[in-house]
Amino acid sequence: MKHFFHKGKDINQPTFLLLHGTGGTETDLLPVAGMIDDSASVLGVRGNVSENGMPRFFRRLAEGVFDEEDLIFRTRELNEFIDQAAVCHGFDRDNVIAIGYSNGANIAASLLFHYEHALGGAILFHPMVPRRGMDLPNLTGTPVFIGAGTNDPICKPEETKELAERLERAGASVDIGWENFGHQLTHSEVQKAAAWYARLFKGELK
Ligand code: MLT
Repeated sequence: MKHFFHKGKDINQPTFLLLHGTGGTETDLLPVAGMIDDSASVLGVRGNVSENGMPRFFRRLAEGVFDEEDLIFRTRELNEFIDQAAVCHGFDRDNVIAIGYSNGANIAASLLFHYEHALGGAILFHPMVPRRGMDLPNLTGTPVFIGAGTNDPICKPEETKELAERLERAGASVDIGWENFGHQLTHSEVQKAAAWYARLFKGELK
């Protein structure tokens, strides 16, 4: 997959896996990663699917209607890519935190739904429920931050709560940061994610 890797100042910190929204690229979330922890290593990946020239991580049949077969295939492809990238770039495969926005948050949620050890944690900005009617793996203790908008027309508040409940039922520990905005990624939700990360991963109180 098209990607970049920046080795961080502190290799004991998690590696951030950056997953862009529809029409984005592997570098879009780099400033966001820097706001959350500028000493972490960063793996930025571009989605392999093109929707009228816009990169995505999996196909959709319509807005909010996912091509489930492709989602499953692409989730496996991304998980295997992270395995290979860890060997190639020398980062700890067991210490990867996804930072995803919109379509990127959806594939990150799909990694959590399908694989027990794909992610050590996830920061999901405006995710949806990637799939229904399936059992999740054991996610005991996996920390997940969800950034959500009370007026998000794509990822509605009910769906945000449903996603949080499904992840919690599988054992994940979920925090939701609500904003009174829509689908856009706001500065203040990134600050909330940064405070969450500092508290959980660095033992800091922000
Ligand atoms: C998706 O297709 O993943 C969601 O609808 C979000 C988006 O618009 O990309």
